[in-house]
Formats: sequence, structure tokens, C-alpha cells
Amino acid sequence: MIVVTTPTGTIGQQVLKNILDSEQPVRVIVRDPSRLPSQTRQRVEVVQGSHGDIDIVNEAFTGADSVFWVAPPNPHAVSISAVYSDFTRPACDAFRRHGVGRVVGVSALGRGVARNAGLVSASLAMDELIVSTGVSYRALTLPSFMDNILRQIEPIKNQGVFFSPVRADRKLPTCATRDIAAVAARLLLDPSWSGQDSVPVLGPEDLSGNDMAQIISEVLGKPVRFQQIPVEAYKARLTEHGMSAAMAQGMADMMAAKSEGLDNAEPRTPQSTTPTSFRQWCEEVLKPAILGQPAIN
Ligand SMILES: NC(=O)c1ccc[n+]([C@@H]2O[C@H](COP(=O)([O-])OP(=O)(O)OC[C@H]3O[C@@H](n4cnc5c(N)ncnc54)[C@H](OP(=O)(O)O)[C@@H]3O)[C@@H](O)[C@H]2O)c1
Repeated sequence: MIVVTTPTGTIGQQVLKNILDSEQPVRVIVRDPSRLPSQTRQRVEVVQGSHGDIDIVNEAFTGADSVFWVAPPNPHAVSISAVYSDFTRPACDAFRRHGVGRVVGVSALGRGVARNAGLVSASLAMDELIVSTGVSYRALTLPSFMDNILRQIEPIKNQGVFFSPVRADRKLPTCATRDIAAVAARLLLDPSWSGQDSVPVLGPEDLSGNDMAQIISEVLGKPVRFQQIPVEAYKARLTEHGMSAAMAQGMADMMAAKSEGLDNAEPRTPQSTTPTSFRQWCEEVLKPAILGQPAIN
């Protein structure tokens, strides 16, 4: 039995799609089952509720061989640890109680090097909590997603610009969520691994904001530039859009750490290099989104 959390989320829905092609029994935890495609609802077992709820995870993890774990974003949280460790604590009890075989979790790059890195530090603390249960665990250690650029469709479309507090020339790995989902599905379907380890998913190359602007411009056939903004202005923008002070600070600390090279510490290897290039992602996801067409996923 494979249990999938956040089956309506960006990564979770692609993980689910990948494992539904197998013969394996699949259970999902979902707050609102009507948000799942009807074909999916017929194929999977549904536990309705939040995976932050002890009763729900006790029900869902009964007889589970593997679990796909995502701590959901919460822009209104009172603290960053509330989003990661506190949300994950009931699941950790249930991993132990039900003797769950393997857990594959969504995390971040930075193990051993992150200092005051906001959301990244909170995510790594969540990994430590999961590891402390003794369950076999693979933390998918991720750079910033290419898909984050979709939040800036308006400025890209209307002003030909996108923003980040990261230095314009800082080359960083970036990955497509489809590649994360492919790696997660492979691990969930493979019963042969055990122990606890990290699995970095680095995309095919390191790119700066300026490199990305160049590629976006070529794919869209119009000039788009990258604009670095001060961390304080970035934080103010997040709170203006309704984010809590604690989450905005966590985002700001994370971006400052990335600007200083947090995501460059993980050496690139053939195993951590994943196929979807930023150019391909722009052609298949960003451009259709800008033109208001369905993306190829
Ligand atoms: N963006 C990045 O660059 C980056 C980098 C590294 C790691 N990450 C991590 O990636 C994760 C986010 O993954 P994603 O982009 O796939 O998420 P997403 O698209 O934002 O989806 C969020 C999912 O969480 C569910 N959800 C929201 N609040 C919930 C709650 N209180 N209880 C139960 N379910 C809830 C949503 O379900 P509903 O349908 O019920 O709303 C949805 O399925 C985060 O843990 C983040 O730290 C992100």
C-alpha cells in the first residue's frame, strides 16, 4: 500500500499520476476528495481529512508500505516550525505505531551547511524529526522549483520583468516539479531500499536569474529581464500580500542564504542531475501559462 499526501498539490498530483500506472494499491489523504479527478477517485482509497491530524494519519498509515510526505505551505503560520515539524509530529507517531516501511519526503538542499536559512532550516529540522522515528527515509533535497516562476506571470507578461532577492549572477540549481515527482514515484515503487539518506534533485544545470531571463526571452520571443530586489523589500511585498510576519521572515532568511550560495554546496552527480531543462519547462509550462493554454505535464 502506497499512501500519498497532498494529492491535489503541484508535486503530489504528479506523483499520484506516476504511481497510478503501476498495479500497486494506493491510498490518498485529501481534505476535499471532489478536487481529485473522478477517474483517480475510482482507482484509489480515500482517507478524508488533513495529514496533520493524528486520527487521520492513524487511519491512513494502517498497513502502509510507503508514504509520500509533504508538509503543506501555510502562508499564515505563526512560526516556521509550525509548518514543518509541528505539522509532521502526528505523522511521526503514526509511522512508529503502524511500522510504516518507507517514507519519501519533500525537503530542501542545505543539510550540514544551512545556518539561519529560514524555511530551509525548518524543513531540515522536519527531516531530523522523521529520522528520529527510525523509519526508512529518503529526504528529497531540493533547490528552488522552476514552477515558482509561475507566481510571476503578471509582471513577466505585462512589464517584461521578474524579481528575486537572489544576486542576478548567482548560478543555482533549479528543478521542475515533474522531475521531483518522477524521482519520488521511483522510490515509492521500489521496496528494496532501507536506512536514511538524502536524494538531491538538481535539474540538468545551474542557472542565474540573468540566464533564466535570457531563456524566457528566447522562448517567449520578447525581452524579459531579471531584477534583484533588496531582501527587506521582498519581505515587505510578502506581508503586503497577506503572509504572516514569521513566514515572510522565513522566506527572506531562506532567499538571503540562497543568494550566498546555500544551494551550491551539493556536488552535482549523474544521479542528482534530472532531465527537464529550464528551456524545455519554459516551452511546455511557462509559455502555455502566459498564453492561457493548458500546460504539457
Ligand atoms: N517551492 C520551492 O521552491 C520549494 C523548494 C523546496 C521545497 N519545497 C517544499 O515543497 C512543499 C510544497 O509542495 P507543492 O509545491 O507540491 O505544494 P502545493 O502545490 O502548494 O500544494 C499544497 C498541498 O497541500 C495541501 N494542503 C494545504 N494545507 C493543508 C492542510 N492544512 N492540511 C492538509 N493538506 C493541506 C493542499 O491541498 P488542498 O487541495 O486541500 O488545498 C495541496 O494538496 C513544501 O513543503 C515546501 O517547503 C518547495
